[in-house]
Amino acid sequence: MPPAARTSSRRRPPHDVADLSLATAGEARIDWADAQMPVLAQVRSRFGAERPLDGLRVAACLHVTAETGNLVRTLRAGGADVWLAAANPLSTQDEVAAALVLADGVAVHARRRIDRATYARHQETVAACGGPGPHLTMDDGGDLLALLHEPAADGAPTRASADLIGGTEETTAGAIRLRAMARRGELPVPVLAVHEADTHRVVENRHGTGQSALDGILRATNVLLAGRTLVVMGYGSCGRGVAARARGMGAAVTVCEVDPIKALEAKLEGFDVAPSLVAAERGDIFVTVTGNRDVLTREHFERMRDGTILANAGHFDVEISLGDLAAAADGPPVEVRPLVERYVVGGRRLHLLAGGRVVNLAAAEGYPASVMDLSFTNQALAVEALVRQPGRFAPGVHRVPQEMDAEMALLKLESLGLGIDVLSDAQSAYGRSWG
Ligand code: NAI
Repeated sequence: MPPAARTSSRRRPPHDVADLSLATAGEARIDWADAQMPVLAQVRSRFGAERPLDGLRVAACLHVTAETGNLVRTLRAGGADVWLAAANPLSTQDEVAAALVLADGVAVHARRRIDRATYARHQETVAACGGPGPHLTMDDGGDLLALLHEPAADGAPTRASADLIGGTEETTAGAIRLRAMARRGELPVPVLAVHEADTHRVVENRHGTGQSALDGILRATNVLLAGRTLVVMGYGSCGRGVAARARGMGAAVTVCEVDPIKALEAKLEGFDVAPSLVAAERGDIFVTVTGNRDVLTREHFERMRDGTILANAGHFDVEISLGDLAAAADGPPVEVRPLVERYVVGGRRLHLLAGGRVVNLAAAEGYPASVMDLSFTNQALAVEALVRQPGRFAPGVHRVPQEMDAEMALLKLESLGLGIDVLSDAQSAYGRSWG
């Protein structure tokens, strides 16, 4: 039986959302994701009993989606007062924002497709938490911590209050930004970088990106992968996921790398390996996942076959050189399907997906909820660690502790009904005796 709607007549927190009447639809969406997030649900139930965040203010700047809704519910169960802004106005699910205000008492300031000024105002409001500022921050790009540590209007060196304990960061780009702040001496609190957890790399990058990048390509094009040659550019944690999933669907996979060890690994795992200019002549579908720029350039486009598909699942829209593609083409691109543009290069048709933007976000729905289950459990355990272990983490950016990573993997295994062995005392002692 579906859970009863939890919208209640409790006092509404301060908020700025599109339409509170969407709350019931939002609750249904959050509940659907919840059913695929069993690990976070376990933590939520423990938080409900232990209340580790009682009375603490959490400012979060995250994508306002159903999965985030379940993270926020977990923080609320732990006793936190939560203020939530969007990390990107385009990803905000207005119905989720409404449900979190009405059913969960979260001070949401997020609406889809707002202008830059409103977006910035929302972040300011959430960073202030109604005046006193947060005890904890949760960032997806470092915006909140950067905002809190800018000089304040009244001349004070920073807006962060003495209450600030620390924060979490979800992305690589955010961690780079925060580490730069730390080097300049502008980050006086610890930040746990959840994307650097081993569980994150395996579950999110490899399996989440692997599946969802192909999902985006298939939704945009509806091509059959079996029998095609798919070229993966970059065999890192994301690339190996794309390669493995494509092989599973019957594609012949060629890997292009600049790191000889990664290239050797790819070969020994059964993939073809070739320089990119050679692969350019063989591939039917190209997927860039390097984090680098200009991975596919004019030289490649001029060698490609008729009907080639070009997709990026890595960094921003710089991995496929859009300038080179436009310059090599015989004329302007033509949109042949939603999110598919046809460029004609030397009489051959090349199809660019989603304008070279990250294909799993632009053409599919990003990660499935069960992938976000671990990322957001990581977030919840990270804020708990910051609160319960004061002094453990010095100011600066840290990986999540190893034992937290292991706890998450164990919880995930348990949620799948699986157990594992533990070392006996004699085995542990034997292992240590060699150290
Ligand atoms: P990684 O560092 O593990 O792997 C990148 C690989 O690309 C490395 O092995 C490197 O040697 C290789 N490489 C670099 N330049 C190259 C070039 N010119 N040609 C061929 N290979 C090259 O990084 P990871 O974790 O796999 O991430 C890759 C990119 O994907 C990053 O930009 C990351 O931000 C992005 N990413 C995208 C996600 C999505 O949802 N689409 C999710 C997670 C990360």
